[in-house]
Amino acid sequence: MINYKEFFQAEVLKAVHELGFAAEDALISQSNRPDLSDYQSNIALPLAKKNGLVPRELASKLAEKLSANDGLYTVSVDGPGFINFSLTNRMLEDNSEPFSFKPSGRTIVIDYGGPNIAKALHVGHLRAAVIGESMKRIMRESGDKVIGDVHFGDWGTPIGMLISQLQNDGLDASKTMTIAEISDLYKRAAASFKESDDFKEQARVATSELQAGNEEYRKIWQMFHDVSIADIKKIYDALDVDFDLWLGESDVNDILPTMFAELTAKGMAVESDGAVIIPLPPIKGRERAPFILRKTDGAYTYAATDLATIIQRMKDFNPDAILYVVDARQKEHFEQVFEVARTAGYVPENVSLEHLGFGTVNGADGKPFKTRDGGVMSLMDLLVLAENKAKEALPEPSADISKEELDLQAAQIAFGGIKYQDLKNNRISDYIFDTENFTKSEGKTGAYVQYAIVRINSILAKAKENGFAIAPKVEISHTLEREIMLTLERYPEVIIRAYETREPSEISEYAHILSQKFSSFYAELSVLGEQDEKVRASRLKIAELTRDTLHKSLWLLGISAPDKMLRKE
Ligand code: ARG
Repeated sequence: MINYKEFFQAEVLKAVHELGFAAEDALISQSNRPDLSDYQSNIALPLAKKNGLVPRELASKLAEKLSANDGLYTVSVDGPGFINFSLTNRMLEDNSEPFSFKPSGRTIVIDYGGPNIAKALHVGHLRAAVIGESMKRIMRESGDKVIGDVHFGDWGTPIGMLISQLQNDGLDASKTMTIAEISDLYKRAAASFKESDDFKEQARVATSELQAGNEEYRKIWQMFHDVSIADIKKIYDALDVDFDLWLGESDVNDILPTMFAELTAKGMAVESDGAVIIPLPPIKGRERAPFILRKTDGAYTYAATDLATIIQRMKDFNPDAILYVVDARQKEHFEQVFEVARTAGYVPENVSLEHLGFGTVNGADGKPFKTRDGGVMSLMDLLVLAENKAKEALPEPSADISKEELDLQAAQIAFGGIKYQDLKNNRISDYIFDTENFTKSEGKTGAYVQYAIVRINSILAKAKENGFAIAPKVEISHTLEREIMLTLERYPEVIIRAYETREPSEISEYAHILSQKFSSFYAELSVLGEQDEKVRASRLKIAELTRDTLHKSLWLLGISAPDKMLRKE
């Protein structure tokens, strides 16, 4: 499969050069009149202006040059000078084998997830996991080498709070606690922290002692760390989210002192009232608060560990880009970390540092999503809620389907639904979590696309039972076939757009449109019932190509498709 946008780009530029003009971009886009053409080039307008010509005349001259290729596409000119292209059926038929990207040679580190140990994951952590996992897959699909890192929050004040609370409660520090006990401890610690200044002080001292290497504290930390991570991994497993690196803030503790020494030697970091800060130059005359590396109590900041992690990642992977899939509200934090990393010379110009911010998940009231009794919705609770919702629509186990199969199906529909609901929105927009419709197989849902796949699989299975052949190549005999082929062959363009804009929503939208096109194709044309063997074989091939492309698209969103989707009668 070739990428049509790139193909027309090259065609038009060649014609431009043949006419003796220079241009770098042929301004190719999908046609805004799909009833008339498939792609268009708007190059004639700026090019005519630059050369003092009439756009429409220039467009016609270009069209004349381009019409030499009329076996592949036809050309026409309209409006003030738009050049329109329609792909011929032959071109669409020839260009339908699956697309694969070549290795890009790029290395990307992507930081997503970011859960804090000793605290249950909440709905806010859903977006980082879901968007990050999808972005990672999109980049891998595009040929990049991608390293995903969970970057646990495991080195800040909350740990000092837990240690202090454990001591104050007189609990045995050598005993391994359960995750439930740890989260209760955390709740008590948070309450003490809020109420008492003495506790605050105690927690701060404990944090900085832990960071300075207190062995007893390190042991307690290890226990909190291991128990929490085992629990957090369960959620990521359920969501089919996986990381190459399971590192956290604590993993850069050893490089912090060297980093401080370097930054001080460079004259960037200075002491101020017992804290270590980097003053930031004013922007447009507006003074800015300093970048704090170490607080007066001696504890390192979130900013310091993020900066040190950049040093570590540059050293370990020498990446072309480091991406952070983190709540949009941390925009300023990342701007400052990036600014300091550049000024300090840790990251050269050609390496990009990007914060891929995302909006919040809200409840029906437009406020952050809560449980029925008003508490913060834990991610685990949300997953259980989703599975129960998916089960409501499923039949009882029977001779046709076992309980295990039904449970798997419920999980695939539920988690597919949660992810699709998230990924159908632009990253940056907030969205309202719809607890009612997200597992339904109609509307813009994961189940709608999953269902399209299941349906095609059953068509293909029936074809096989009947001994019907699948054509090696499609032959277009109807406009609905043409439409679906054109949509299928836009796959590489969609991936590139998703890659460039860092928007998995491009893919969820595409999967929905492709499913819809298949649905009209299947409703209007006979496939299994088609008498003409050649036409039937070609339609089965279209079905197969559609299934594979939908499968791949869902996979890029981190969603798997069930083998069957039985519904309650
Ligand atoms: N643990 C942080 C939080 O819950 C998110 C970490 C995001 N990643 C990063 N490198 N700062 O807010």
